[in-house]
Amino acid sequence: MTQIGVFASGRGSNFQNIFYKTRDGYISAQIGTLITDNLHAGAIDFAKENNLPVYIVKPKDYPSVQAFGDALLQILEKHHIDLVALAGFLKKVPENVVAKYVNRMINIHPALLPAFGGKGMYGKHVHEAVYRSGVKFSGVTVHLVTNEFDAGPIVLQKVVNIEDCHSPDEIAQKVLMQEHIAYPEALKQIIENEMKVTGNRVEFCRENKN
Ligand code: GRF
Repeated sequence: MTQIGVFASGRGSNFQNIFYKTRDGYISAQIGTLITDNLHAGAIDFAKENNLPVYIVKPKDYPSVQAFGDALLQILEKHHIDLVALAGFLKKVPENVVAKYVNRMINIHPALLPAFGGKGMYGKHVHEAVYRSGVKFSGVTVHLVTNEFDAGPIVLQKVVNIEDCHSPDEIAQKVLMQEHIAYPEALKQIIENEMKVTGNRVEFCRENKN
């Protein structure tokens, strides 16, 4: 069965949601490990309660970015991780890890890329920028991870109408509900179907690959 490694730095609602969707069989995979860079991440307790291996790996504990990457790779290898899902992971993933997981590492972004993405565009900063811009639609993007922030091939998007939102917080709440639908859906697609990546385009073949 496909083993998913989740990287999370914060409250971990996407991580928890993916866990439930694997447990109830919607995604035919298991979470093999949680990796976090934050000792206080909400995801840690949840992982422990559910007997998932947890690792706290901080870049500053390593002499170089590459060494940080090697430490991550060692954990991923130990748990036979096939697919990495970034779920609110705030550190840049080292190039050696990205290289090892080409087209096998995905991220969720709480807006419609390529708008409102890039360095510094995470968490509430995204929703504040969306709110200020006055756009009437935001959404969710699940994309493959490359070395450039938020720029990898797009796997799946969901549009969220935010005309009725009166603050960045309201936008965040509405978008998060769609994140919890989009991320499992993207994982399911990738696991069950043949994925073709051409430049920045992702397409899925209809036949089930299993
Ligand atoms: C989500 O909004 C996700 O799109 C972004 O970081 C946030 C993480 O939330 N990458 P949570 O920790 O999964 O609740």
